[in-house]
Amino acid sequence: MIDIDAVRADTPGCGHVVHLNNAGASLPPVPVINAQIDYITREAAVGGYEMAAERSEQIEAVYTSIARLLGCLGSEIALMSSATDAWNAAFAALEFERGDRILTAEAEYASNVINFIKAARDIGVVVDVVPSTASGELSISALESMIDDRVKLIAVSHIPTNGGLVNPAEEIGAIAKSAGVTYLLDACQSVGQLELDVESLGCDLLTATGRKYLRGPRGTGFLYVRDGWSNEPSVLDLHSARWTGPNSYEVLPDARRFETWEFGWAALVGLGAAVDYALELGLDRIEHRIVDLAGQLRRRLAGMPGVNPNDLGTRQCGIVTFTVDGVDASEVVGRLREQWINVSVSTPLSTPIDAERRHLPDLVRASVHYFNTADELDRFVSALDFLATR
Ligand SMILES: Cc1ncc(COP(=O)(O)O)c(C=O)c1O
Repeated sequence: MIDIDAVRADTPGCGHVVHLNNAGASLPPVPVINAQIDYITREAAVGGYEMAAERSEQIEAVYTSIARLLGCLGSEIALMSSATDAWNAAFAALEFERGDRILTAEAEYASNVINFIKAARDIGVVVDVVPSTASGELSISALESMIDDRVKLIAVSHIPTNGGLVNPAEEIGAIAKSAGVTYLLDACQSVGQLELDVESLGCDLLTATGRKYLRGPRGTGFLYVRDGWSNEPSVLDLHSARWTGPNSYEVLPDARRFETWEFGWAALVGLGAAVDYALELGLDRIEHRIVDLAGQLRRRLAGMPGVNPNDLGTRQCGIVTFTVDGVDASEVVGRLREQWINVSVSTPLSTPIDAERRHLPDLVRASVHYFNTADELDRFVSALDFLATR
């Protein structure tokens, strides 16, 4: 069991806000804050390059920690500035030809879909959306029936940004593997929230951010590239490649070929501290606590007049979405913010295919983390009840 008093004592933000915006950016714990302050303070004293040399072991340890989190090798990790940065780097390395097919899910993240549309326009790839089951996840039988020789990529968000469902990432991985198709998993909302293991997920590429469920600093993320997935990045520099002659270069053999030279190391050592913190607590325990709290919250919202829970999925996570009769989502967020309760708005523009199909309006998104408490949920529910019934 997680010692909730201890993790809250470790989280200065818990003294100020009821933070239910962990799918936006979570509250960092003290070790994450201190790792950055320590790094930046010493860096200011000794010099940036000198500091990176002095702390080379601490920097290497960031890769090792992320590798432990995902069950992979350190050489399969590239550090990035966001999940988008990681996803774009991976997607741009794919070599499509006209007529190649990309399969994706209905609740795919808008940034990813925009890049699919661009590839359709620029190259002539065909983007096919795999239908969902009645309970909202990507349908495995539909995916199976859509595989043919022209499918070159399966790209899916593990947890969509706009709701509580968890897509069947492992089953998708098994299909991708048997069809020999590259599988790009957007784990932006699942990393730090669910126990992840790239072997069982069966993905070739996985993208993640630091600031959400991992509780790391903003401006951090990472990309997992399976050893043996050998595509060349679309962007190279003198870090990712070596200039070997007037007309030649050699690209790094491992995932770091997707990085470029400059890094904000203070933030990235903060990310390493965040991963270590999560590993120390145990991802199984984290997942169990989040799913339990979110389940409690959904049950309470379901019994409230004027509140309409909106989550799909047979397997659900810490993201809880709903609407309030007669009150816009942005007004709900603003009113709760006045009471130091943080939730966010999920707009149809963040998941356009799903939003159009289900005619979704702006949704209120309350995303719980393990450090939230039943008392905080009480405060949130009574503040919401006041808004819904006024
Ligand atoms: C499913 C999903 N993918 C990708 C992203 C983008 O993450 P980042 O802002 O770190 O680039 C988000 C952000 O909310 C997301 O929900």
